[in-house]
Order: sequence, then C-alpha cells, then structure tokens
Amino acid sequence: MPDVYSNILEADFAIQERIATILELRAADPQQVEFLDHYLQSLPFADQSQVLEIGCGTGAVTRALARCPFIAGVAGVDPSAILLNHARMLSQDYENVQFYQADARKLPFEPDSFDTVVLHTALCHIPGPDKVLEEAFRVLRHDGLLVIFDGDYASTSFAIGDNDPLEAVAMAAVEVIAHDRWIVRKLPGLLRKAGFDVIGSRGYAYSAACDAEYMLTILDRGADALEASGIISANLAIALKDEGRIRAEQGNFFGLITYGKLLAKKRF
Ligand SMILES: C[S@@+](CC[C@H](N)C(=O)[O-])C[C@H]1O[C@@H](n2cnc3c(N)ncnc32)[C@H](O)[C@@H]1O
Repeated sequence: MPDVYSNILEADFAIQERIATILELRAADPQQVEFLDHYLQSLPFADQSQVLEIGCGTGAVTRALARCPFIAGVAGVDPSAILLNHARMLSQDYENVQFYQADARKLPFEPDSFDTVVLHTALCHIPGPDKVLEEAFRVLRHDGLLVIFDGDYASTSFAIGDNDPLEAVAMAAVEVIAHDRWIVRKLPGLLRKAGFDVIGSRGYAYSAACDAEYMLTILDRGADALEASGIISANLAIALKDEGRIRAEQGNFFGLITYGKLLAKKRF
C-alpha cells in the first residue's frame, strides 16, 4: 500500500476527511506544538515577510505562521480541495492567509515572490523532491530562507523489547505514512544540488508514552496496512490495535519518531 498523501487526489472523500482529522489532532499534540513553536521562534523573519507553506493540508502550520510577528502574509498550497476546505474554514479569522490549490512541483507564483518557504512534514510525501526544491528556489527571493521540518520515519518504533509484535506494525505503518522514509537524511545533499546552502539543522524526538492519541492513529494505519496486504487477518489487526490501547491505558505504551529540521539559504 503506498503512502496515501503522495497520491492525495486519488484518496476518496472519507479518507481525506479522516486525514483532516488526524492532521488537526497531530497539530494539537503538545510535543508537536512545542517543536513547531521552537523552530518558528528561531526563524529570522524579516519585517513584512511574505511566507509560503507548501503542502499545507488543513493549514495548522499556516495559521501558526500567520500568528508570528513580522509576517505580513502567508500563502498555503495543497493539491487537495477537501483539505483546503478545512484550511479555509479554520483560518476564517485570519486576514493575512490565503490558500491555493496547486502541486508543489508546479507552483502558481512568479519568481522571487516569497521571503520564506516552509515545508512541514510534506516533502517526505511528494515523489520528485528535486522538483519541489527547484520550485522553492524559483519562488524565493534573493537571500530567501527555506525551512524544512520532516519526519525521519525510518526511525519509527513501537517496540518495548525484542521481538515485540508492535514493531512489525510500526514498520508497516511507515510504508503507508511516508513516500520516502529517508528524506531527512538525504536533504543536505538534495538542498546543495538545488542551489541552497544549509545554515542550520537539528533533530526533535517525538516520544509518545502518556499521551499516545496521535501515535495510536499511526499504529492503526500500520495494522490496517498489514491486514490489507493479506499478511494478517482482521482479527489480528484488531488485536494489535487493542494491544496498543491496553498498553496506553496501563502506562506501557511507547512510540518514537524523530523529526529533522533544516534551514537553508538560497545561494547566488
Ligand atoms: C502530512 S500532511 C502535512 C500538512 C501540513 N503541512 C501540516 O503539517 O499539518 C502532507 C501534505 O502534503 C500534501 N501533498 C501531497 N502531495 C503534494 C504535492 N504534490 N504538492 C503539494 N502538497 C502535496 C498533502 O495533501 C498533505 O496535505
């Protein structure tokens, strides 16, 4: 089963609505809020900045950008009309936000339109990241800043010991939650090739123990993927999902995903 985000337009309405719910659930997760706040606060936004978020989904990060000081306007781009409907509804109170239905590999903007471009957990889902970076380079102004925060999904783990069956679920989940689980580790080379200088990087460890609500949605997607591939029965898929919830209730659940953030400047 491929990563549903990488072919978002082929996902039916119910799946895209489920994705909308999951994206807002993740955005409200305290650790995810902390990661986003931490890196946004460190960004050197110029006064009256124009910012673009590529792959904005329901616009949780777009709204956070719009609340930052110095930012005059934020554009959010996503191919999914269904996710963009949510984004527009959720940002009704924001005057400095606009959304566009478009593909990251063919952005509907003139060259040199933005001071900052943000890709927040988007690049790992898009086949052809070279083309996305080429477009980011084109629409950024001289000295513009590219900010990439993405899941290092190869690090995903639910195991709490050797041969833990939930680890197989984590591995299956990675197949369906990321098109390229290695993208974070490839980024320095890809950015250099696209004409950027990397000026900063750091990792964030997302570990769900006490509050596992979002991580359990990943467990569910892994169990569903194993069932859909015919490896396990529906009964075992249910049992594996139950196992995650029982662990969470009893305080034994542990899930880990590391994220990477890279800052890069447009080179001239
Ligand atoms: C995991 S979501 C991240 C959404 C948002 N950045 C956030 O963090 O809440 C990945 C997003 O990438 C979008 N996406 C997938 N393919 C895309 C493409 N070719 N161009 C632009 N966005 C794309 C999906 O529709 C989805 O909204």
